[in-house]
Amino acid sequence: MKITYYGHSCFMFDDGKCRVLTDPYISGNPLTRISVDDVSTDYILVSHAHGDHLGDTVDIAGFTGATVISTVELCGQLIQPEGIKNMAGNIGGSLKTPFGSVKYVNAIHGSGIPGGLACGFVVEMGGKKIYFAGDTALTADMALLKDEGIDIALLPIGDYYTMGPADAKRAAEMICPELTIPMHYNTFPVIRQDPDAFAESLREEGLACRVLEIGETLNYG
Ligand code: NI
Ligand code: MN
Repeated sequence: MKITYYGHSCFMFDDGKCRVLTDPYISGNPLTRISVDDVSTDYILVSHAHGDHLGDTVDIAGFTGATVISTVELCGQLIQPEGIKNMAGNIGGSLKTPFGSVKYVNAIHGSGIPGGLACGFVVEMGGKKIYFAGDTALTADMALLKDEGIDIALLPIGDYYTMGPADAKRAAEMICPELTIPMHYNTFPVIRQDPDAFAESLREEGLACRVLEIGETLNYG
């Protein structure tokens, strides 16, 4: 299982058979290292419709033929009118996919569209369970994820729009993942954070944390 970080909340999961991209905010990201044209993927997970998450979804799905996985409201308003393949589920639901499954979980955040809800995802792929939190506040619901046996938790630490480092640390303590990777920081001045200090604070509690450089790929056993 390979996990590549493209900055902000954009990751690529690749199990050697299938590729899944999350919240592809690439062309607008001042810290980006890749061109949208270079992106190739089979699926795109979209947590909500804010511009730094929906990002280049429509563009990338258009030229790759990728399937978009998001909520009923987001797909109905922004994806289906473009004629893009999609799987439109909702919070609490689990979808079977060719690479494994995607479960929609609660996120405390605006959706960016009328009538919608933001969400996070638990992705089962390549024998691993990954929790992609999306944009969210700390919420007691995260304690439920401990029973899921999360291998990797991708948590926002930027503060201002989402959890900051202190609440993200509390989230990691509730979820107890094998590994935590911080996201959603330093893209804009108001979400400037020190990811290494966050990682150290987790290690002091016996929790593994890995900071990925933009463009870096983690090979996860
Ligand atoms: Ni947002
Ligand atoms: Mn955001």
